[in-house]
Amino acid sequence: MSPAIFIDALQNELQRTPYGQYPPELYDPIRYIMSLGGKRMRPLLTLMAAYLFTDDWKKAIRPALAVEVFHNFTLMHDDIMDQAPLRRGQPTVHEKWNHNIAILSGDVMLVKAHELLLDVEADKLKPAMTRFTRTAAEVCEGQQMDMNFEKRWDVTEAEYIDMIRLKTSVLLGYALELGGLIGGADDETNAHLYAGGVNIGIGFQLKDDLLDVYGDPAKFGKQVGGDIIANKKTFLLIEALEQATGSVKDELIGWLTHPDFDKAEKVRAITTIYDQLGIRQITEARINSYFAQGFANFEQINADPARKAFLLQFTRQLIERES
Ligand code: IPE
Ligand code: IPE
Ligand code: MG
Ligand code: MG
Ligand code: MG
Repeated sequence: MSPAIFIDALQNELQRTPYGQYPPELYDPIRYIMSLGGKRMRPLLTLMAAYLFTDDWKKAIRPALAVEVFHNFTLMHDDIMDQAPLRRGQPTVHEKWNHNIAILSGDVMLVKAHELLLDVEADKLKPAMTRFTRTAAEVCEGQQMDMNFEKRWDVTEAEYIDMIRLKTSVLLGYALELGGLIGGADDETNAHLYAGGVNIGIGFQLKDDLLDVYGDPAKFGKQVGGDIIANKKTFLLIEALEQATGSVKDELIGWLTHPDFDKAEKVRAITTIYDQLGIRQITEARINSYFAQGFANFEQINADPARKAFLLQFTRQLIERES
C-alpha cells in the first residue's frame, strides 16, 4: 500500500461523478471548482481512517467525496462572503460567473454532498447523517461568527479559537470520524479520531491565517493579505492587538479603523507591525501545540501501526504546507 492508492481511488471517483447537466450555469461551476484540485485532505483523511480498521476501505470513497463536495460548497460561498478574487490560483466562481450563480451552485453542492453520503451502509447511515448535519450547521455558525468578528475590535483569543473550531476544525474531525465509522471502529475510537481532527484542524486554520500574511503568492493560490484587507480577526491580529503598545498600537488601530486605504499599503504596514512584534513565531508555536494535541489524540487509537503510519505521515505534512 502507498498513499497514492487513496489519491488515485479518489481521483477516479471524482472523474466518474457527473453532478448534473442542465442548466449548465448551475452545474458548470461545480465541475470548475472541483477540477481546480486542492489538497483533497478531508476525503483522504476519511479513507485513511477507514483503512485503519478495514481492508474494504473503498466503500468509504463516495462518502469521502461527499465531505470534499461539502468543503468545496463552503469555499464557493466563503469566497463571496470574503470577496475573494482567487481560489487555487484561479478566479473564484462569483468572479468568473456571478454572485447568484455561486450561491445556487453552492446550494446544489450541499444537496449533492448529502446524496453522496447516502452511500454509507444502511446500519451506519443514521449516525453518519446525524453527525454530518450537525457538523454542517456548526460550519455555518463558525462562518457567521467570522463575519461578525470583522466588525468587532474586542474579539478574544478564546472566541477566535471557538470560531475556527466551528468554521474549519469540526469538518476535519468529522472526516476522520466518518472513516472510523465506515471502517467499523467503536464509538470510543471514533471519538479519538474526531478529537484529533479538531485539534489538527485548529492548527490547520492557524496555519491558513499565517499563510494569508506570509504565504508565497505563487504557491498559496489565494490573495495574500486578504485577511488584512477584510479586517479579519485572525490569531495574528488578535495577538498583535494584545502585544502592541504606544505608537505601534496607535498605528495598528489607525489602519484597522480607516475607511479609505490603499490595499497594498495596508497589507505592507500591518505585516511590518507583525514582524516587529514577532507574531509569526508566536503563531508557529501555537500551530505546533495544536498539532501535538492532535497527535496525542491519535496515540489513543488502537490500530495496526503500519496503517496508522499513513495517517500520521500525511497529517505531519499539513504542518509544513505552503498552499
Ligand atoms: C481552505 O481549505 C479553507 C480552510 C479551511 C482554511 P484547504 O486549505 O483544505 O483548501 P483546498 O481544498 O486544499 O484548496
Ligand atoms: C474558511 O476560512 C472556512 C471555510 C471555508 C468554512 P477562510 O476564509 O480563512 O478560508 P480561505 O482562506 O478563504 O480558504
Ligand atoms: Mg472566510
Ligand atoms: Mg475565505
Ligand atoms: Mg484563510
